Amino acid sequence: MGDIDSIASSNLVTLARRKFDTLVIGAGGGGLRAALQLSQADANVAVVSKVFPTRSHTVAAQGGMNAALANVLPDNWHWHMYDTVKGSDYLGDQDAIEYMCRAASHLVVELEHAGVPFTRLEDGRIYQRAFGGQSQNFGGEQAVRTCAAADRTGHAILHTLYQQNIRAKTHFFDEHFAVDLILDDDGYVLGALTLEIETGELLLIEAKTTLLATGGAGQLFRTNTNAHINTGDGLAMVLRAGLPIQDMEFFQFHPTGIAGKGMLITEGARGEGGYLINKDGERFMARYAPKAKDLASRDVVSRAIAVEVRDGRGCGANGDHVFLKLDHLGAETVHKRLPGICDMVTTFLGIDPAVEHIPVYPTAHYTMGGIPTDRDGRVVAPVNSGEEPVPGLYAVGECACVSVHGANRLGGNSLLDIVVFGRAAGNDINEFLTANRYHRPLNDASVEQALTRLARWDRTGDGESVSQLRDELQSTMETYCGVFRSDEVLKEGVDEVLALEKRLEGAVLQDHSKTFNTARIEALELENLMELAIATVCSALERRESRGAHSRIDFTERDDVHWLKHSLFFKEDRRLDYKPVRMKPLSVESFPPKERVY
Ligand code: FUM
Repeated sequence: MGDIDSIASSNLVTLARRKFDTLVIGAGGGGLRAALQLSQADANVAVVSKVFPTRSHTVAAQGGMNAALANVLPDNWHWHMYDTVKGSDYLGDQDAIEYMCRAASHLVVELEHAGVPFTRLEDGRIYQRAFGGQSQNFGGEQAVRTCAAADRTGHAILHTLYQQNIRAKTHFFDEHFAVDLILDDDGYVLGALTLEIETGELLLIEAKTTLLATGGAGQLFRTNTNAHINTGDGLAMVLRAGLPIQDMEFFQFHPTGIAGKGMLITEGARGEGGYLINKDGERFMARYAPKAKDLASRDVVSRAIAVEVRDGRGCGANGDHVFLKLDHLGAETVHKRLPGICDMVTTFLGIDPAVEHIPVYPTAHYTMGGIPTDRDGRVVAPVNSGEEPVPGLYAVGECACVSVHGANRLGGNSLLDIVVFGRAAGNDINEFLTANRYHRPLNDASVEQALTRLARWDRTGDGESVSQLRDELQSTMETYCGVFRSDEVLKEGVDEVLALEKRLEGAVLQDHSKTFNTARIEALELENLMELAIATVCSALERRESRGAHSRIDFTERDDVHWLKHSLFFKEDRRLDYKPVRMKPLSVESFPPKERVY
């Protein structure tokens, strides 16, 4: 047994342990929605979070949550479903999309009753604004469907769910990092090994059910809207457990990040009537999406901005961005409806957006792919020619792929996704706990494997720095796997990422004696990102068509004959497999693929 292995074995003996009915990893909206329901049903629930829970990335969701409340214009869930299927470029699973859109109105009202301070219309009902890709009557006029708490909707929802969890006595392990899942030889998930960031103490949490709610992997890209914590930890844990992840080639670039910096300027700014202009002052979206214009879906608007800049119509000294124009809305509307944006733009650009235009450019925003799940939030894995749930393991929110977003998510559907499937997972976990009353015996071999992963970062000596490698990985992904892709560029991307992976093997924590645990966490996060970068470039290289956010300049058309299917990436052998899209909804006719115009 080598050094690392002996450290792992001796740690196994002294390891602190706790037992819970359910372990939730991640304290964003999806995790907290599920945890709340379970705690209210008297389950013993632990939530492990890398950060203080209200700093989870849900807090950064701005514009709102879609639900066909029809408070402003006529609307219904079926129109919402149509828009979501079309937005997904027909890759979304239509049973899951129907389920989500039907549940939406009920769940908004439930949040309202839990205390979310939604903005109000004059008549006291919940305020709704227009968002991209929304229509009335299956592709007709613009719908107004996004329920908002000013431009801080995620903040309002997250704080409410956290407060309700405290009241329901959910047990929080704040600032704990989940190292790896623990499984037994029959494939049951038994909990996870965690590490307290401040002290470096290890804690093994045994649980009858484990829910991954770890968010997306926006830190794969240099310029992004994501929190630093969004390193795809849950997805990488699933890969290391020998399970596949799905549709990783589909990464959303939000059209309006602050140029060069990446911070999100909500789509709600265009929903309130703002629009994009190029250096000639032209409202260029009219050329790309004659009907929806600036409220076309995100993939369409992001590509349009990239083309304007590429073709020399960009703004500023370097012509490397376009402008978002809000001044025509009037200071009162801008300051009242978009207070968070006003604060951010004043802080980072020193301008008042009610007076001056905001320089914007597409920025990495959302991981459409993720851990494959069914509608009940159960993680599923291929078995023979079908798939089966992995016993005891669930995933919800951005880390999961149900798939309701397919190849391109509609703005306002992510807050909806987390509460709908957080609740669905909570329901199923409740049933699982009723049927499985006892903890299964722990599997020492699996714990030792997780300890070995950690022990690797105890190594000292000379080697490359983790932060340098992380910067290079993010730049590589931005260069080789951005808005537009091609065979040649993606092949180079695969080579570049694999070379970085090799270099990571030789990396060490710099100046080890003075290093805090945060350096160790950054190293573990980089390992996670590396796995996901490989999954993303390999999946993107293989998909020879353009669909949603995956835009190939060498295969410019969508190809439903060969590619109307989900990809599955396996860590072992870097293998890709495919499975069919679920085209059959639950109670209505399916929406067959057709040309997607806005
Ligand atoms: O633009 C936004 O406010 C982002 C919303 C979303 O990604 O759903």
